Amino acid sequence: MARITLHTLDRRRASGEKIVCLTAYDSTHALLVSSQGCDVILVGDSLGNVVQGHDSTVPVTIDDMVYHTRCVARGNSDSLVMVDLPFMSFSTAEQACANAARLMQAGAEVVKLEGGRWLCPTIESLSERGVPTCVHLGLTPQSVSMLGGYRVQGRDSDSAGRLLEDARLLEQAGARLLLLECVPASLAATITAEVGVPVIGIGAGPDTDGQILVLYDLLGLTPSSPPRFVKNFMAQSATPAEAVGAYVAAVRKGLFPAVEHTFSQ
Ligand code: KIV
Repeated sequence: MARITLHTLDRRRASGEKIVCLTAYDSTHALLVSSQGCDVILVGDSLGNVVQGHDSTVPVTIDDMVYHTRCVARGNSDSLVMVDLPFMSFSTAEQACANAARLMQAGAEVVKLEGGRWLCPTIESLSERGVPTCVHLGLTPQSVSMLGGYRVQGRDSDSAGRLLEDARLLEQAGARLLLLECVPASLAATITAEVGVPVIGIGAGPDTDGQILVLYDLLGLTPSSPPRFVKNFMAQSATPAEAVGAYVAAVRKGLFPAVEHTFSQ
């Protein structure tokens, strides 16, 4: 497989070929995901939940993210490596630039930030300094206390309109990718049609340009009842490689997510 770049993702969006993404936090999983043809590996701060055993991503530090980025970069073959800036590591543009530099030097190729239009000056600063960004909108787990729990976002017309406007403003500020988590499928379809950059979804229906899942969820390792948008691909696979391969094929063919993994208005 040729090395995946942001241009590959732009081409996939233009041609309608789905973009496939998964999380990984160590070198073995990075190799597993990359060798099965995943376009993007996200070193997500969800490692706070699935690796560190916290009940949110809030305790994750920039040092944790640097360490896991280095591990993933060693195992990755051809996927694009995207890494989360963790909770309160980007509260000013200056802080974001300093911490993004650490992630890029550890092996990140795109930096992901959770938030809305307040991030525009930060996205501009990062872009001007050569750091490509992805903005995570909708359910933003770092703000779980403010959101009052892990809830579907953008269900009423005011919040849906605000999310669409956030997406437009962040694209104008220079975001190269958007990620939508837990929003109604119809809103995700509208945002995807209205912006000019690739949109990745999780719990956002089938009409985004690509899909992402937490690898541990896909492998059926989630201890309690997983969220609606998760599918355990291990249930019908003999090995983790087969499960990841089945996920890649299902996303590319438009078979995942199905209606049962999707939220309505
Ligand atoms: O941290 C993470 O794994 C994420 C995904 C849920 C998209 O942000």
